[in-house]
Amino acid sequence: MRQQTEKEKRDLLDAALAVRLNAYAPYSNFQVGAAILADDGRIYAGCNVENAAYPEGTCAEAGAIAAMIAAGAQRIQQVAVVADGDSLVSPCGGCRQKLAEFADADVPVVLASVSDADIASYTVAELLPASFSL
Ligand code: THU
Repeated sequence: MRQQTEKEKRDLLDAALAVRLNAYAPYSNFQVGAAILADDGRIYAGCNVENAAYPEGTCAEAGAIAAMIAAGAQRIQQVAVVADGDSLVSPCGGCRQKLAEFADADVPVVLASVSDADIASYTVAELLPASFSL
């Protein structure tokens, strides 16, 4: 993975911030936005979509991955995830596995608060070491 430029990071964070505003999260009241830079050079975004039957809700990362695959792109080059709260949002275990399906181990996953005051960056392998694959 080549170095992520500041502009790429900013554009991804802006896409995640924008899509987060569309999150449907009446049960947790925790809105999340995720954005992916894919191998076609485009950004795909997703937000969490909750459901009264709680396990049927989907995470922001899953939405962004679905948008990427539906558009015909195949690989994740960079990721940003944005939420608001006392601590930085951290992708759930299931989303880490979903990201690992489409991303190389060194792909950066930037986590940020809505204010950008808190920001952290991990690789996919740091988030999911010794991941399962076939
Ligand atoms: N959520 C995400 O969308 N992504 C994450 O990385 C963490 C959690 C959502 C799922 C649920 O709608 C809400 O946040 C609270 O768990």
